[in-house]
Amino acid sequence: MKSIHSFKQMKQEGRKISMVTCYDSCFAKILAETEIDMLLVGDSVAMVYHGFDSTIHATMPMMVMHTAAVARGAPKKFIIGDMPFLTFKKGPTVALDAAAELMRAGADCVKLEGLKGHEGSIEALIGAGIPVMGHLGLTPQSVHQLGGHKVQAKESREAEILIAEAKKLEEMGCFSLVLECVPSELAQKVSVSLKIPCIGIGAGVGTDGQVLVLHDMLGASPEFKPKFLRQYSNLSENTKTSINQYVKDVQEKTYPSAEESYKA
Ligand code: KIV
Repeated sequence: MKSIHSFKQMKQEGRKISMVTCYDSCFAKILAETEIDMLLVGDSVAMVYHGFDSTIHATMPMMVMHTAAVARGAPKKFIIGDMPFLTFKKGPTVALDAAAELMRAGADCVKLEGLKGHEGSIEALIGAGIPVMGHLGLTPQSVHQLGGHKVQAKESREAEILIAEAKKLEEMGCFSLVLECVPSELAQKVSVSLKIPCIGIGAGVGTDGQVLVLHDMLGASPEFKPKFLRQYSNLSENTKTSINQYVKDVQEKTYPSAEESYKA
């Protein structure tokens, strides 16, 4: 079982870290038999599984239920529990309670977006012995303020702020950082200047690792095609083909066969 120390060592040795989202036991069991380093029970579950149009709809009961399901399916994988919208903005007490629930559900650490305004919550979590992964750049819980899911920190002033915030998160004791949708040169600069591993999504090849949303990389929603996404499978087409074949077999009475039926 990998730990926060394994990831620091991987960075020191120049070995890239791989991470995907996972929300349920079925996929967790499959991922448990792969080489993937980390599983993120992301608040993207609200969009991918529950059909909402943003991650602000992720709630604590939702995150706890999915974290527990993933932990049952992949008990030996390192699991990150995403802190849902506002749980870390209401102060250290609410943040500690929320993180405790995620850790009890099976998370090995928590991830939270941004820095400004919730430094106290981050300090309290780390002070309580809970490993914290930061998340800068495109922070989807602020989608309404950012004006959409867009590339961030293209201007030099924004880039400076991001670099300063990344350094601050490291100083505060975060063990790792997600950099989402930022220019590759900036992501590389941040990754090189920090000792903690930086995991990128839409942030180029210069980070210490990569994360993708599982359903996106497996091709579950082929219409969602951001520039950074590489589709490794065709889940949507394969599922449709399989289901249509099943419907045909049922209609033509070729399913079930005698071998697929019980005898008295
Ligand atoms: O919730 C999520 O899926 C994420 C990743 C995009 C990093 O935070």
